[in-house]
Amino acid sequence: MNILLLGSGGREHALAWKMAQSPRCDKLWASPGNPGIAEHAECVELDAGDHDAVAEFCRANAIGLIVIGPEAPLVDGLADSLRGAGFAVFGPSKAAARLEGSKSFTKELCERAGIPTAKFVRCTSLEAGWGALKKFDPPFVLKADGLAAGKGVVIAETREEAQHALAEMFEGKFGPAGSEVVIEQFLTGEEASFFALTDGEAIVPLGSAQDHKRVGEGDTGPNTGGMGAYSPAPVLAPDLEARAMREIIEPTVKAMREEGYPYSGVLYAGLMLTPGGPQLIEYNARFGDPECQVLMMRLESDLVDLMLACAEGRLGEIERPALSGDFALTVVMAAEGYPDTPKKGGAIDLGEAEAQGAKVFHAGTKREGGALTANGGRVLNVTAQGTSASEAQRAAYAAVDAIDFPTGFCRRDIGQREVRRERG
Ligand code: AMP
Ligand code: GLY
Repeated sequence: MNILLLGSGGREHALAWKMAQSPRCDKLWASPGNPGIAEHAECVELDAGDHDAVAEFCRANAIGLIVIGPEAPLVDGLADSLRGAGFAVFGPSKAAARLEGSKSFTKELCERAGIPTAKFVRCTSLEAGWGALKKFDPPFVLKADGLAAGKGVVIAETREEAQHALAEMFEGKFGPAGSEVVIEQFLTGEEASFFALTDGEAIVPLGSAQDHKRVGEGDTGPNTGGMGAYSPAPVLAPDLEARAMREIIEPTVKAMREEGYPYSGVLYAGLMLTPGGPQLIEYNARFGDPECQVLMMRLESDLVDLMLACAEGRLGEIERPALSGDFALTVVMAAEGYPDTPKKGGAIDLGEAEAQGAKVFHAGTKREGGALTANGGRVLNVTAQGTSASEAQRAAYAAVDAIDFPTGFCRRDIGQREVRRERG
């Protein structure tokens, strides 16, 4: 089968690497792809905003499955257009992708379906927001409603800070994403990410992970897209995972189906493990980046089989995904200046990084002639496996140390919380 993968990050490199291992994959195309993806796929430049052009490419190249990696084209309805043109697509429709594209949609769905999540108020004006703040105690959690590249959440310690942040949101700091704001109760606990595949009816768990959002060691400095991740997340113990499935994922998929916008694809739940049980922080309508990299390293099943079964509504008929019992851990190597203004063009020599079984996924690289250079904020995702978090951490950093990337940096403490727990 010919497959088209849309996207260009480390997440998509991990998906391409895994899909290319499937006996069902004859020819893999990627758009726009990156130099790492190009090792498994032929890269083409398609305009994901031009749905007809993507469909035309798929017709001309007899594409049997289209995999949409990032959220923006999903929220833009690309999956609907391609399904309408007769193609099998892995990824939710525009209406279903509102689980990521609109915080207020998700919060109201949770309310209707009785899904545990922080209490909230939806505000459509600054005045309403100021009024709503009175119903909450600090710290205040403010969220721009729409897609804001992971930057739309502000946690304010004081009422003044919250008022200031609200004003910035309504003045357009996050563009149209901030024309509506959700204010919610602050939850305490440890965070974990949980992934499930669904075709709208059947649901299968795909494992857990934890990521490290802050740029600096010890979780300091500004938020990023994620500086590293590991899987599984043992804090999401089997009983908590079962509760998350029963109390959060299953009622969500059921409500989406019953309300007329069945969700199909991967559902990524950001969970807060509170003393009272798991609560939903947010949904994403796609794989996490870099969580996908560690999940793909642990996935033993055929990814193409799973994605096609989701796309064709046959997920209940095939075997559940099998994941290795090992840990996988990924360290993000970013370009100096990330997350503000990452330095482009720095030389990269991967050396013998993959010699011991590690895998270096490309997130933001460019190949000019033979030379590999940095071309983004997050540049490389150095990923390794081990029988424990400590082993996976050691293997990942051994691979990091084999890479020569003078204008790059990474956190040296990815997975540290788990390593400390293992040491007791
Ligand atoms: P989100 O983009 O919704 O995942 O939010 C980004 C981050 O903000 C989360 O990973 C949490 O660390 C934090 N956060 C979001 N909502 C809450 C909440 N209600 N209580 C505490 N922390 C939160
Ligand atoms: N690593 C967080 C995300 O993909 O949204």
